[in-house]
Amino acid sequence: MASGSLRIAVYPGSFDPLHNGHFDIIERCRPLFDELVVAVLRNTSKKDPLFSVDERVALIDEVLRDHAGCRVESFEGLLVHFMERVGARTIVRGLRAVSDFESEFQMALMNRRLDPRVETVFLTPKEEYSYLSSRLVKEVYLLGGDCTGLVPAEVLAKMPGR
Ligand code: PNS
Repeated sequence: MASGSLRIAVYPGSFDPLHNGHFDIIERCRPLFDELVVAVLRNTSKKDPLFSVDERVALIDEVLRDHAGCRVESFEGLLVHFMERVGARTIVRGLRAVSDFESEFQMALMNRRLDPRVETVFLTPKEEYSYLSSRLVKEVYLLGGDCTGLVPAEVLAKMPGR
């Protein structure tokens, strides 16, 4: 492992866009690890992105600028391969409700099968963010709704009124 004994965690996702629930998970897991890598998937199969992957990476970088020990990268291919590259063994995922559980459980077990050294840790966001999803934020924004309080200020600044 390239990182020696550093406890490096990876928080993977699409983050289109990063919302306050994501940010809350980042703040919660930051003290639990030496380093946190927010990993944005280069997923060409997702249609009509609000932000390109490079824009998402730049935005998250801006959001995390005062957060020592946090950085953002993009990845493609298998998450476990990306983790090997950055020397991480822990995946962090947010669990909002029972409805998240089934797919998260499947992903955690698949990742463990692909690399038995990898563990997935689930954190729950603040209750006030438990209904938030990127899909809903995007829908509200595209239909002209106000996204104040749903996304960090840096993200909101890139979402002009429609
Ligand atoms: O924010 P999302 O869309 O729920 O994030 C899903 C993500 C990026 C965590 C997941 O799709 C992923 O890890 N994709 C990489 C491909 C991979 O490793 N697949 C096999 C294990 S599930």
